[in-house]
Amino acid sequence: MKNENLLFLFIFASLLLTQCAPTQKYSIIPAPKQLTPADGFFTLDTATVIEFPKEDKDVVLVVDFLKNLVMQSSGILLKEESSSVHSGKISFVLDAKMAGPEGHYKLNISPDKVEIISASALGLFYGVQTFRQLLPPQIESRQIVNNIEWKAPCVQIDDEPRFRYRGLHLDVARHFFPVSFIKKYIDLIALHKMNTFHWHLTEDQGWRIEIKKYPLLTRVGAQRDETLIGHGHYKPYRFDGKPYGGYYTQEEVKEVVKYARSRFVSVIPEIEMPGHSLAALAAYPELGCTGGPYKVATRWGIFKDVYCAGNEKVFEFMENVLSEVVELFPGKYIHIGGDECPKDQWKLCPKCQARIKAEGLKDEHELQSYFIKRIEKFLLTKGRNIIGWDEILEGGLAPKATVMSWRGIKGGIEAAKQKHEVIMSPVSHCYLNFYQSDPKGEMLAIGGFTTLKKSYSFEPVPQELSTDEQKYIVGVQGNVWTEYIIIPEHVEYMAFPRACALAEVGWTAKEKKDWDSFQLRLDKHKLRLAELFVNFFPGKK
Ligand code: ACM
Ligand code: ZN
Repeated sequence: MKNENLLFLFIFASLLLTQCAPTQKYSIIPAPKQLTPADGFFTLDTATVIEFPKEDKDVVLVVDFLKNLVMQSSGILLKEESSSVHSGKISFVLDAKMAGPEGHYKLNISPDKVEIISASALGLFYGVQTFRQLLPPQIESRQIVNNIEWKAPCVQIDDEPRFRYRGLHLDVARHFFPVSFIKKYIDLIALHKMNTFHWHLTEDQGWRIEIKKYPLLTRVGAQRDETLIGHGHYKPYRFDGKPYGGYYTQEEVKEVVKYARSRFVSVIPEIEMPGHSLAALAAYPELGCTGGPYKVATRWGIFKDVYCAGNEKVFEFMENVLSEVVELFPGKYIHIGGDECPKDQWKLCPKCQARIKAEGLKDEHELQSYFIKRIEKFLLTKGRNIIGWDEILEGGLAPKATVMSWRGIKGGIEAAKQKHEVIMSPVSHCYLNFYQSDPKGEMLAIGGFTTLKKSYSFEPVPQELSTDEQKYIVGVQGNVWTEYIIIPEHVEYMAFPRACALAEVGWTAKEKKDWDSFQLRLDKHKLRLAELFVNFFPGKK
């Protein structure tokens, strides 16, 4: 190669490096709204002090989070002092002037000071998540790491989320996951500035939450005799012959909710109705149209036995269950499912048909709508709003319902046009139980094909909505259904890094999204996930 060509190559490479450098130096996921690079570093050491408004309990949660993170990996105790003589200071500032829709914060890092400013503790928490991602990945270690300089690059960041709902879901009914893993999952939600954990607690294959008034829900409904081997499409069915079960006590649920709160994550329980209810029917057969007997499902799919919509006892049961549920979950929303409810039994059931007649309903879809509206009315008396899968549109939406659009984005569009809030979670981009690379090299999954790039490319706001209608799209969620996911490590493998991509979809302004930059940041971010023992999918696309 000629000398001038070499020189050109050198200049080109240098240019490329300087272009990439900011991305890698500040490898924050999700990408912030505004980032101004600066020279130099702030170094955490034993002289670093921390100052914050001590009278605010939520700010104390944020500070404790940072102190624990720093202590367990570096052994450094961040001392609480407000003296101005120290040069190495981390300062939390509440500033009402920065009030905004959600979590707006500024993070200014200079060689002698880290300053996080927000109108809310939530914003300060997000500032900490960003600061954390600027420290070496070993900051995530659960053991002391020696010989590391705990440096964060100087920077000025001004950041806030694009959408107010940024969720990650986990199905703990097809397979059950221990509280320790649920906490880890919540930690990962928080690391990526998502704010909602959607806990899918009841299903045909298992009821997973203790309800004091109905002990059989867990004594009977939390256990199944055996589990299908292989994919649900394989015939003839084969079963493993092993009883399977598990549930969360109310004490455990409280512990999870409290843990989530300390990470500014709200937990939405899903109590499925009127379909996906075999486990509850096995426990209380009088709640079904035929009266049973029923068995907790041992294979996957959609089952025709559902709650009877003509029986008052079902509504009494639901109200009692939900009364306990709202005591455990303080958040605004209760998810009531509503998906995949076959109407076969309702068509044959005298009680259901009598209800249709008495209420002047057109058909079984309107009967489902009657069911959901009645539950909504009850939950509104408890100060709660319902979320349902997009089937709740069929037969008429309940007046205040939020729609989770999963069968594509059509349901979301329709709901937004009806001025209902929408969370976008279409199978095409948001089902993290789908294959993420060639199935030949992967463990058995339900199907589909959703690469990291595809998840990243998701745009939650459909073009066909008017500016006014677009406001009803409140956010995005990734879902992890666990028919074919048995252990926590496999959940992690399916969820990450696609959940990182969806976190960026939910947080980062549309014009700031950049697949190439995301990939570069993710390379570094994976070191952090590795420190957290996250068994992420190693592929790059
Ligand atoms: C769903 O995937 N059935 C909501
Ligand atoms: Zn019935």
